[in-house]
Parts: sequence; structure tokens; C-alpha cells
Amino acid sequence: MKRSVAIGWGSYLPEKMVTNEELAERVDTSDEWIVERTGISRRHVAAEGELTSDLAVAASEKALASAGIEGSDIDLIVLATATPDETFPATATTVQARLGMTGGAAFDVQAVCTGFIYAISVADNFVRAGQAERVLVIGAETFSRILDWEDRATCVLFGDGAGALVLEAQDGNGANTDRGILTTHLRSDGRYHDMLYVDGGPSSTQTAGFLRMRGREVFRHAVTNLAETVGEAVSAAGLELHDIDWVVPHQANKRIIDGTARKLGLTGDKVILTVDRHANTSAASVPLALVDGIEAGKIKRDDIVLLEAMGGGFTWGSCLMRW
Ligand code: UT7
Repeated sequence: MKRSVAIGWGSYLPEKMVTNEELAERVDTSDEWIVERTGISRRHVAAEGELTSDLAVAASEKALASAGIEGSDIDLIVLATATPDETFPATATTVQARLGMTGGAAFDVQAVCTGFIYAISVADNFVRAGQAERVLVIGAETFSRILDWEDRATCVLFGDGAGALVLEAQDGNGANTDRGILTTHLRSDGRYHDMLYVDGGPSSTQTAGFLRMRGREVFRHAVTNLAETVGEAVSAAGLELHDIDWVVPHQANKRIIDGTARKLGLTGDKVILTVDRHANTSAASVPLALVDGIEAGKIKRDDIVLLEAMGGGFTWGSCLMRW
């Protein structure tokens, strides 16, 4: 059978950094409140005129370079974003052109903070079906553009960034000793729309709108949903929770990350944490953390790596891979 093995990775954060203290000058908040409730100390914000596609291209160029290949060697781009450059065409096609890829296909997927898990799952299924050989999977966001900067309950939580992974079809024997993606699990439940949404869109208001969230409710569902999807992934792969070497969680809130790890009986030293430096970058959060873990020398060949995320919709999901 075909396995999707990661052969390249890269990430990009906009140059401009905004600290909690700077936000406290704009809204009624404090560094102490933000750190205590979320674990966030700072976030990166895209410069004026810097678009989601710019962030995606920067991360992708690094991913292609680390794989030792060119854009023309890719036959599929799956880009996860909730903040596309334009309503259409897909930001993935803009990235495709800028990477010099004239064949294959490129499209966006939209699952907000779970976007990268959805994108990697779609990519893996293309590989397993024999329809793609090399896939560039990207998570890229400019959430700063859909934040209500007057709303202290949301504007302190998010940041901008991008991460990318090159997956290659390689032969495996179907056992959990194979390298590459072992299993992916996607879930959604649209009844929870009002907990986390954007109050605009081309069809409803003809504007992009601003993010609205009932944080406490999202928090309540997050730990339960994440623990459930991690359990599903581990058992589908015929593994145990203690087999996981690294958890790469969606970086929304350190308390959610800690709570999920505790519920699963996983120790903190197995969890990659970037929320303090990146805040919540939605679909970019998991690939940014993954690349951070690789570049810090933590994630190594043959490690069992678990990716998990939860976001608006609700959507949630997991991906288990042998690195
Ligand atoms: O990516 C997936 C989507 N997002 C998430 O996963 C986020 C999930 N939710 C959370 O992370 C947390 O619920 C928050 C960080 C959003 C909020 O933390 P919390 O401990 O649930 O606080 P809360 O919403 O219960 O608010 C507590 C108090 C409130 O004041 P009162 O009503 O108790 O007087 C808020 O008005 O904190 C107040 N508050 C703030 N105070 C200072 C809310 N935001 C701020 C702020 N600074 N930035």
C-alpha cells in the first residue's frame, strides 16, 4: 500500500510581533490575564499588504528546499485556510503559480482551526488512492484581518503564520511499523455554529466579517472532543497512548493543551508548545508547531507523532504518523 511520508517541511511567521503589553494599550486587558488564562505572551501579525498567499509561499519554499525538490515536482497542493486572499480563486492556485507548478491541481480546504488536519487527511487519501505522488500540504492564515480589535475577549488570542509539509507516496506494508501517515480522523458537528463563527461572508453580508466566539463553551467542548479523536487514532493504528512520542496539538490555549494531555495520561514533556510565542494561528498552528518540534531536534525519524485540532463548525480531528 501507499503511505504518505513527510520529506520536507517549512514555516513562516511575519516579521512584526505584538506583545501582550502592546495589546493592553489598545483594549482593557493585561499581560497577567492573557498569560494566566491562555499561556500566550506574543503573536506575529502580517504587515500591510502581506497576504495569506505570501505567508504560504514563504513556508512552502522552505518545505520544497528541505525536500530538495521544486514546485514542478509537486502534483497536488492542498491549502487549509479560513482567511483566503480572495473569495475566489482558491489561495492554493495563487501559491501554485508562484511556486512554478503548471501541472496537477491545487485547492483550498476550510475547517478553520482543524484545517491542517483536514488538509493532511485529504492529501493522504489522494496518495492512498494512487492519485498523487507528491503533495504540498499548507496551513496559512492572516487571522489579524478578521479580528475585532476592540473585542478583548478575542483579539488577544490569535496570530498570523504559515506552515507546510511535503508528503511523498512511498511503499508500505500496511503495518504500524510503516513510516508516514498511519491514520487520520475527521469530525464535525454543525449544530455548534454559534459558538465560533465569522459574522460576514460573500453570500450573507458581502463583507469578510469579524470573528465571534463564546470562549467558555468552546473550551468546554475542546478537551472532550480532542481526547476522543486522539483515542480513535491510537486504537485505529493498533497502538497505545504510551506509544506516542510527540503530541503536536492545535495551539489555542495552554490550558486546553494541558487538560487534554492530562485526560489522556500523557506527560507535558511529550507535547510541542508554541502557543506562548505564536498564539492561535488557526490552520497554521499545527504545522507551525510541527516544524518547531522538528527544528528543535525533538521530533526524530521513526517517532510516533500525533497531530490534533479543534475549531469552528465545530470541526475536530487527528492524524497519527510515524515520522
Ligand atoms: O481554536 C479553537 C478556538 N478557540 C479556542 O479554543 C478558545 C477556547 N476558549 C478559551 O481559550 C478561553 O475560554 C478564553 C481564553 C477565550 C477565555 O478564558 P476563560 O477562562 O474561559 O474566561 P471567561 O471567558 O470565562 O472570562 C472570564 C472573565 C470575564 O469577566 P467576568 O464576566 O468574569 O467579569 C471576561 O469578560 O475575563 C474577562 N475577559 C478578559 N479580561 C481581561 C475576557 N477577555 C479578557 C481579556 N482581558 N482579554
